[in-house]
Amino acid sequence: MTAAPAPRWETLEAPRRARDVALVRARLPELVPWARTVEDDWLDPAERARRDGYRRPEDREAFLARRCLLRAVLAERLGTEPAAVPLGPAPGAAGRRGKPAVPGLHFSLSSAGGQVLLATAARELGLDVERVPDSTGAEQMSRILHPAERRRLAWTLRSRRPAVVARVWARKESLLKALGTGLSRDPSLDRVGTGRFPARPLPGWRVLDLDLGPDGRELRAALTVQELRPSACSTM
Ligand SMILES: CC(C)(COP(=O)(O)OP(=O)(O)OC[C@H]1O[C@@H](n2cnc3c(N)ncnc32)[C@H](O)[C@@H]1OP(=O)(O)O)[C@@H](O)C(=O)NCCC(=O)NCCS
Repeated sequence: MTAAPAPRWETLEAPRRARDVALVRARLPELVPWARTVEDDWLDPAERARRDGYRRPEDREAFLARRCLLRAVLAERLGTEPAAVPLGPAPGAAGRRGKPAVPGLHFSLSSAGGQVLLATAARELGLDVERVPDSTGAEQMSRILHPAERRRLAWTLRSRRPAVVARVWARKESLLKALGTGLSRDPSLDRVGTGRFPARPLPGWRVLDLDLGPDGRELRAALTVQELRPSACSTM
């Protein structure tokens, strides 16, 4: 079977402090039918094993769609074929669920609410998109935030809390993905802030909010980049 033409992904404008980062967005409902037509050999044995390990067909298809997008975009950036992109675990990444990496390019992928976002750059980075939860979800997610973030949330209007929690989580997970730890690092350790501007939780890293436009009203997204000239002090 020959792969159908890939759906075009949309280019998003990167924040001012990270203009070197290339950001793309694609829609899962458009990616899934295309990914079904992609040859099995696009995936390496570890990816095929992971795909086959999903019990729910929709999870399997979503994983396949994300991986096909990732391989297609990385192939374009690296000047190779999708099947030849040498994806593997980042150095030091724990187990098969750790941060994926390719030599010569940094990337980070995230999906929520039917959207898949992918950032690529020559410096280390992490990207996360979160769907605004309902009030019960927001309450659960807020329990494992930094103590200062929890205090600020307690002072936030109840009706605004879900959107603020999604914003904080997107910032936090983007940082944890940039570090490569994911949630194995305690989310209550780093204060990314609840306010309009992200805090600076760790020297050498900059957390930035992303604007997803009208299509992203129910989502919050953030990007963390390694600073080009790390400063020794944190300014929050
Ligand atoms: C990495 C993690 C933060 C992802 O969060 P998420 O909101 O579920 O999913 P996202 O769509 O934002 O990101 C998933 C992508 O992040 C990347 N990723 C996975 N582990 C990563 C890590 N340690 N660091 C950076 N990026 C990682 C992969 O590209 C993954 O895509 P894939 O699933 O198609 O391979 C989270 O799942 C995690 O920390 N997992 C490892 C620890 C764990 O499983 N804990 C149990 C839950 S408490």
